[in-house]
Amino acid sequence: MADDVRAVEWTGEGLRLVDQTRLPGRLEYLDIRDVEGLVGAIQRLSVRGAPAIGVAGAFGVAIAMIQAAREGWDGTALAAAVERVRDARPTAVNLAAGVDRVIPFMAESLDAVVAEAKALLDEDVRGNRAIGAFGADWLLERSSDRPLRVITHCNTGALATAGWGTAFGIVRELHTRDRLDVVYADETRPLLQGSRLTAWELDRLGIPHFVQADGAAASTVLRGLVDVAIIGADRIAANGDTANKIGSVGLALACADAGIPFMVAAPWSTIDLATASGADIPIEERAAEEILGWGDVRAAPAGSRAHNPAFDVTPARLVSALVTETGVMEISAGETPGQR
Ligand code: MRU
Repeated sequence: MADDVRAVEWTGEGLRLVDQTRLPGRLEYLDIRDVEGLVGAIQRLSVRGAPAIGVAGAFGVAIAMIQAAREGWDGTALAAAVERVRDARPTAVNLAAGVDRVIPFMAESLDAVVAEAKALLDEDVRGNRAIGAFGADWLLERSSDRPLRVITHCNTGALATAGWGTAFGIVRELHTRDRLDVVYADETRPLLQGSRLTAWELDRLGIPHFVQADGAAASTVLRGLVDVAIIGADRIAANGDTANKIGSVGLALACADAGIPFMVAAPWSTIDLATASGADIPIEERAAEEILGWGDVRAAPAGSRAHNPAFDVTPARLVSALVTETGVMEISAGETPGQR
């Protein structure tokens, strides 16, 4: 099995990020040494995926401290830089949570901040392994002996996390246990996290897969070609409503109609108990050119405007199971994160 790619690594002087905008053509790395560079990398999606940007945000505080010392910033400038990292993208709560987790250590030392960010990174990898095992157990307890056919959306693998993956971690676990037949990976318009990134990870691991247009997903489910949908999350409200990549709620509706499980996999750091329901989750609206054209080529007429939300909210009633590092909650049956 191929070694896991490390999307986010601390070099001792700064962050080394896989530049995910270059995949699958090139595996290139970015060395990030200042706040501007990190905010740009997060906003361009060079680093992306809720847990990965959470870890990058935590190390971002260390980068801000190093830059402050180098450039002679006062406390106000440093606090503003930390806030810029925290606010680089609005939907994934992991980013703010990662930054908030290390802020108390700023008064102690740079080393203390780095140590806490490293602890977060290690916890994420360990948590993902647990998510994989809990998710696979839950599914296999409810399945016949036939290997499972899985549909997924966006990218939730090693690239989107500190390692192994969340929803993708369950896929890997099923594959390791020889209980996976095939994965249908939605291409995930408009930035193609599915066809560029998930397919790249599946291919490296030798996992059989199809890439399909997002518009094929509902039909794939209703035709009985898959047994379960497994996706990740960017923020889960206290009542179980789940924000994830645009297109997720359509997949959930199709699964409800077909009577197959719609499974969400995420670490507890993606659960935001301060957000009561999905209506309160801020949804990132991205640049018009991502949707109105193809690369540098304009596709839509000059008079067209863009509607380009990066995420949608799947209501709790459509989420069969939420898998975290502590176990499985059957959300549509009435269990909610807020009750824990
Ligand atoms: O815009 P992106 O690529 O950051 O969106 C990522 C997703 O929607 C993922 O599914 C989610 O963050 C979970 S990653 C384990």
